[in-house]
Amino acid sequence: MARRFAALGASVVVCDVDDDGGAETVRLLQETGAVALFINCDVADANAVARLHDEIVSRFGRLDCAVNNAGIGGPWERIESYPRDGWERVLAVNLSGVFYCLQEQLKRMADSSGAIVNISSIAGKRGLPYQAAYTASKHGVIGLTRVAAQEAARCNIRVNAVCPVYTHTPLFEPMIADNPRRAEKMKERIPLRRFAHPQEIADTVTWLCSDQARFITGQALNVDGGMTA
Ligand SMILES: NC(=O)c1ccc[n+]([C@@H]2O[C@H](COP(=O)([O-])OP(=O)(O)OC[C@H]3O[C@@H](n4cnc5c(N)ncnc54)[C@H](O)[C@@H]3O)[C@@H](O)[C@H]2O)c1
Repeated sequence: MARRFAALGASVVVCDVDDDGGAETVRLLQETGAVALFINCDVADANAVARLHDEIVSRFGRLDCAVNNAGIGGPWERIESYPRDGWERVLAVNLSGVFYCLQEQLKRMADSSGAIVNISSIAGKRGLPYQAAYTASKHGVIGLTRVAAQEAARCNIRVNAVCPVYTHTPLFEPMIADNPRRAEKMKERIPLRRFAHPQEIADTVTWLCSDQARFITGQALNVDGGMTA
């Protein structure tokens, strides 16, 4: 997503708890001549999220678009035995993280309009067994998106969610790495018969942030090869 925004001419601030990954992403962007900056931020820490947004505005003057993408999978367990610390951490990152980011972004976009995309999941539209925390957090992201869209519309700020199906990223690859049969069964549930590529999610996100999507707000758009159809 950072590369796609940079290719479209945006100055990009990359935020993550992973310093090496963030630095590598920024290096790739800068190699193409883009303006890019990495700032370490744990989105589960409200104070860190506020400092992050202060720094973005002090360096670049304003914030036009934001993508709230940080997320973790958490434990796989039945609800009866689901570890509570796992529950709390998944909700802290995936749901409170989006809430803290929205608070800071909406404040800073209020005078100038803007577009925000929150990354939910197909797990925001249906329950995934053994993934109670992830499913609850991603349903919550859609709820927050709908509230934010209605509250922010008067400032011409659009807020949407994107709900990807299984996508080839470091979060997903370990789930199928040692089980090709499982991967095939998962693909059978997707009418287009494959998993998503990160570029396909990025294209949707940048489109939602663009003027082409200027009348779209409060939506939770599935990018799922037809799975939820
Ligand atoms: N890959 C999939 O199949 C899939 C499907 C649907 C939705 N999603 C969602 O897409 C988003 C991106 O996931 P991904 O697949 O690229 O996973 P990923 O693990 O490759 O990337 C997630 C990034 O979030 C960062 N992160 C984790 N905790 C953080 C925190 N507390 N503060 C800041 N950064 C933090 C990680 O360091 C990592 O760089 C997530 O919200 C995920 O739930 C992924």
